[in-house]
Amino acid sequence: MSLFKNYSKDSESIFKNEIALDPSFTPRGKIEFRENENQYIADCIKPLLHRRNGKNLIIFGPPGIGKTLACKKVKEALEEETNEISVFYINLWKKNTQHKITLELCEQLDYKFTHNKSSEELLRIVKQKINQNSAVFIFDEADKAESLELLYQLTEDIYRKTIIMITNDKNWIYKLDPRLKSRIMPDSLEFRPYKKDEIKSILKSRVQLAFNQSIIEQKAMELIIDKTEEATDIRIGLFLLRESAFIAESSSSKQIKNEHVEKAISKLADFKKPIELDKDEEKIMEIVDKNPNKTTNEIFMIYQNADEQNKSQRTFLRKINNLEKANLIKLEEVQGIQGRSYKVKKLSEF
Ligand SMILES: Nc1ncnc2c1ncn2[C@@H]1O[C@H](COP(=O)(O)OP(=O)(O)OP(=O)(O)O)[C@@H](O)[C@H]1O
Ligand SMILES: [Mg+2]
Repeated sequence: MSLFKNYSKDSESIFKNEIALDPSFTPRGKIEFRENENQYIADCIKPLLHRRNGKNLIIFGPPGIGKTLACKKVKEALEEETNEISVFYINLWKKNTQHKITLELCEQLDYKFTHNKSSEELLRIVKQKINQNSAVFIFDEADKAESLELLYQLTEDIYRKTIIMITNDKNWIYKLDPRLKSRIMPDSLEFRPYKKDEIKSILKSRVQLAFNQSIIEQKAMELIIDKTEEATDIRIGLFLLRESAFIAESSSSKQIKNEHVEKAISKLADFKKPIELDKDEEKIMEIVDKNPNKTTNEIFMIYQNADEQNKSQRTFLRKINNLEKANLIKLEEVQGIQGRSYKVKKLSEF
């Protein structure tokens, strides 16, 4: 008996190019349905082409509707147009401290002598290098940054720039420190969710890249489109396409049918946006896992005792907040003798 008999080298795969269904895959060429948004972003950057200062911009909208993709496309187009503007793309969920962002800027500038240099020293070098050109900074997941101190520095010390910040949180702009807001004075651009026929067209293009022709039954495709529209998130459509193809393959079907999509839909509960946790967030998740039903204060005590570094409660609460936003934990209010507190419940695997 072979456990892998359906996957023998000779059996033909349903996929032509599975990567095309990966959420991080960037389709080639122009992207559909975001022409106006792309133009808006480009207009904020245009003054830099005339060696004037650009406009800053906050982009907001719900998950999975092409905000990151649109910015990456603008970056691509700008790099094709000129080499007098440096474009930096940084995801602030992954690089969430000033030091990590500075190191990332060094990396993107191809500056390798970072060893034994302090963050301040590196930042000074980075600023000097960036000022030889004009610069566009794209800070994705900007609301996840631990501190926006670096933004002050960039607004003050970089002469010609456009700072683009991407967030899901419509109200983030109101939460910004007024001093920073008045320095950045950003325009704002809302991305709206795609309409059904737009979703259909986007997913069909991916289907063409990912599969051989007519591999997916029309009814099955319609079901995927409906589910994606309901979720207003293209990633859901990509997940369902890939998952139902796996299910079809493992039942030795040459076509993706409605029943395969139905099964894939039942797995949607497990689907979540790929999340990058930093070390502290991972540690907190581990503690929450091992200590169910504890309050935020109790978790904080364990977290603080876990290593020698002095952890601030403010940072801890911000991390808890991030984990809640990412749907990894839930905070349940409890009324005790000492007043109100919150129990931390783990929601899913991480
Ligand atoms: N117009 C489009 N054409 C082709 N693919 C698209 C389009 N819009 C979005 N996508 C695809 O949908 C997926 C999600 O898009 P993207 O990562 O840009 O979402 P986002 O708005 O940045 O979401 P989040 O706020 O969760 O980060 C990606 O795989 C992207 O390639
Ligand atoms: Mg994004």
